[in-house]
Amino acid sequence: MRVNGKPFRTIWVADDGRSVEIIDQTLLPHRFEIARLTTLEATVAAIRDMRVRGAPLIGATAAYGICLALGADAGQHSLDRACQALLATRPTAINLGWAIEDMRRHLVPLAPAERVAAAYARAAEICEEDVALCRAIGENGLRLFEDLYRRKSQSGQAGPLNVLTHCNAGWLATLDWGTALAPVYLAHDAGLPIHVWVDETRPRNQGAALTAWELAQHGVPHTLIVDNAGGHLMQRGRVDVMITGADRVTAGGDVCNKIGTYLKALAAADNGVPFYAAVPFPTIDWAISDGVREIPIEERDGREVSHLAGVDAAGVLHRVRITPEGAALANYAFDVTPARLVTGLVTERGIAEASPAGLRALYPERREGQVADGAGQS
Ligand code: MRU
Repeated sequence: MRVNGKPFRTIWVADDGRSVEIIDQTLLPHRFEIARLTTLEATVAAIRDMRVRGAPLIGATAAYGICLALGADAGQHSLDRACQALLATRPTAINLGWAIEDMRRHLVPLAPAERVAAAYARAAEICEEDVALCRAIGENGLRLFEDLYRRKSQSGQAGPLNVLTHCNAGWLATLDWGTALAPVYLAHDAGLPIHVWVDETRPRNQGAALTAWELAQHGVPHTLIVDNAGGHLMQRGRVDVMITGADRVTAGGDVCNKIGTYLKALAAADNGVPFYAAVPFPTIDWAISDGVREIPIEERDGREVSHLAGVDAAGVLHRVRITPEGAALANYAFDVTPARLVTGLVTERGIAEASPAGLRALYPERREGQVADGAGQS
């Protein structure tokens, strides 16, 4: 996608052929800055501190973290240490473990002297695969949006297709295109009238900071709302469809995504608004079926709840506390929407019913209970 007209991806290998560059997402939307990662430790910190975030992008970043670790020491101990350190950064998005496992499987059989080149080659393939997966999700979601818009128009309702999204599942969360926003971009480019309600997504405000920014860069009409406004808009008939990304989807179709998704899915069900999650295959955890009980939910620093960052009129960045000093804080980063509330899963292979049978029909080579085993399944 483009930033001020210039094409960008979210991570790439720098001119020296070794270092890795990222867009520092903690500075958006106020500053667009590229950061350079040269060590495993810097990569671990970039994922943990959310300079890069979004399930597919943290997987790709971990793959490059392994490259950087092996560049310093290509031995088995170094590989094991890198995998462990990267895996410990964020527990919920399964794409992280998927990418690490994929890299391990490719690298363990090789002699140390072969590993560095092989690691960079495989990391690049993971990135290219993600672009293709997101593009395919976009095409499948576009057909869904076209159908929903046709039905809206045929029922005599005026106006664009109104889409509600939560968090950021756009190109910043992936390598390019995004998952939930890929169909939005394709629909807009195809001339389908579309408007996006953007949940601000407290506490880190990925909607306000990132989704609003990238939709504006692409010229997609959108309106930023507070997290609690979605239910009201649905009651007034002002949301035609809700679509989010996912950090982990169980073999039974439960969807784990940014905290607040579940409440929005409840409101959608109460108001007859279809709720879809956009999901590339590395996000599916075939090993578990009960998302509410089995998916580890990341708990982050309470200061993300008590403090807000923003710019003043002069453009100077400040961080301010909005709570009483010493307030008790809890910061759950994700929640699980049970499959019964999910209308469908928009995947690279088509739209699956959120059920064991629905997912099996699209991925017949997979079985419930199977541990994720890497790439090349798309
Ligand atoms: O905590 P984040 O910003 O990494 O959470 C991101 C999300 O919840 C996204 O919706 C999800 O990763 C899907 S991104 C394509």
